[in-house]
Amino acid sequence: MHNNDKLLEISKLVFELTMVGSTDNDLDVLLEQLFSVLQKLPTLQIQSKGAILMFSPRSKPVRVAQYGLKPFWATDEKHDELNGFAHPFNEQATLATISIHTPSYGQQQSSVQQVCILPLYANQQPLGQVLLFTAQDWVPSGNELEFLTDLSHALSSIISRFLLNATLRLREIELEDARTEAIRRLGTASEYRDNETGMHVMRMTNIAGAIAKAMGLSEDQREILLITAPMHDVGKIGIADAILLKPDRLTTDEFDIMKTHTEIGGRLLKGSDTLIATARDIALCHHENWDGSGYPKGISGEDIPVLARVCSIADVFDALMSNRPYKDAWALERTVAYIKTESGKKFDPAAVNAFDKALPEILRIRELYREDVIDPTEVVNLPELPVRETRWICWDESLSVGIAVIDEHHRYLFDLVNDLIDVVANKMGARELGRVLKALGQYAQIHFQAEERMMQQYNYPRLDIQVTQHQHFLTRMKEFNEELHQNPLIAQFEILVYLRDWLVAHIRDEDTQLSALVWQATTPYRG
Ligand SMILES: [Fe+2]
Ligand SMILES: [Fe+2]
Ligand SMILES: [Fe+2]
Repeated sequence: MHNNDKLLEISKLVFELTMVGSTDNDLDVLLEQLFSVLQKLPTLQIQSKGAILMFSPRSKPVRVAQYGLKPFWATDEKHDELNGFAHPFNEQATLATISIHTPSYGQQQSSVQQVCILPLYANQQPLGQVLLFTAQDWVPSGNELEFLTDLSHALSSIISRFLLNATLRLREIELEDARTEAIRRLGTASEYRDNETGMHVMRMTNIAGAIAKAMGLSEDQREILLITAPMHDVGKIGIADAILLKPDRLTTDEFDIMKTHTEIGGRLLKGSDTLIATARDIALCHHENWDGSGYPKGISGEDIPVLARVCSIADVFDALMSNRPYKDAWALERTVAYIKTESGKKFDPAAVNAFDKALPEILRIRELYREDVIDPTEVVNLPELPVRETRWICWDESLSVGIAVIDEHHRYLFDLVNDLIDVVANKMGARELGRVLKALGQYAQIHFQAEERMMQQYNYPRLDIQVTQHQHFLTRMKEFNEELHQNPLIAQFEILVYLRDWLVAHIRDEDTQLSALVWQATTPYRG
């Protein structure tokens, strides 16, 4: 290869790659482009296989993109050709051999593969390496090695720009989220006044989400619903304690005052953006009835905003199913029957149908967000969930703790981790990634509290160990959130591996020992 040709090729290559970098923040696409250009240079005996590795302060290099190889989550570790690969950082393009272990018919087969390693820098610091598989006996000329080193400089600047873009995007999203977070907190704050745990708000919100889904409302609408539903009772801030916290039934006069929480909420939520406007609709109209007999305005039918109609069923269902100072919880059958007889009267018939359809999911939500002490011997009969396609961690019966509610919580945590792998594998973007991670952190906290409450109640001897491990997990999730801002490309993969390993190990080694509580609860005291 002549010097001039080389320069020309590099400039063409960089131009082509820059075009990719500017349209699509996807390193797999970048690699694809790289290989399509390299194939036009047959003197370089590069095969159609390669990967981008990034260095991690915490672990071995993380593979963030690949070409001609399966992503690491799609193969099990034993089948992964680059499993455990680590090669010292070198400032020049270098050749190296890696040994590949492929199990076949129960036996490990080893073979040797030659790769060309290109160094990657960001701000003069080693960032990672690009691996290109080459023909086995290829010996590049000095010129060719120089070309590859130049190529690595070009790739370094493109990939560090990718990284910068991804980080900026995260910050942007965070700023937007700060606003919804403030709104969310307002909703929860109002609920803490008359409901110790705030768990009713979470159940009601998730139940409303399940009804909205069964009704076929769009994903956008459902997302807005999940943010705004917690504020449905924000107007209770303006109701005197003597009425709000009264343990007995309210008198007619008191009830009239109580009713004004809808209008107070509506006044509090002033503003024209979609989020605030929707929150206002819900706060104002969640006690309106389909037949016009509700309050505050007595509007009817489709004049009531659809999300308010959905929230109304979720709110009533969860309130009836719960103990309140002035009433005992209703049984499920009675509650469901009541909601059905109110179809077309209090409730929108379409929303009641959706409620009926979503009932299995709604019952699961009730178990997931319990605020009482879990009884280790309690039997829960929830309908089977549909089996999902992508699975990063699989539930199997050996992980059963023998306590039905806890098992249900654990299965849900597995679901959330599998949601995360869906987001990463399908490149659904930083926003989705942040959303699922937040949901996971929040739910883990709720689950740990429920578990610890039960352990405390039954004087479980390993409570301290459990609390320490739970705490450690939550701290680690916080750290990941920060690492995500340093390098989202590697953090997302490290989170996945950590979640899988921690959850499986903690459940297998610690939580399964909770089965002692079942034994303790079913064995009569013999002292
Ligand atoms: Fe209300
Ligand atoms: Fe657990
Ligand atoms: Fe635990």
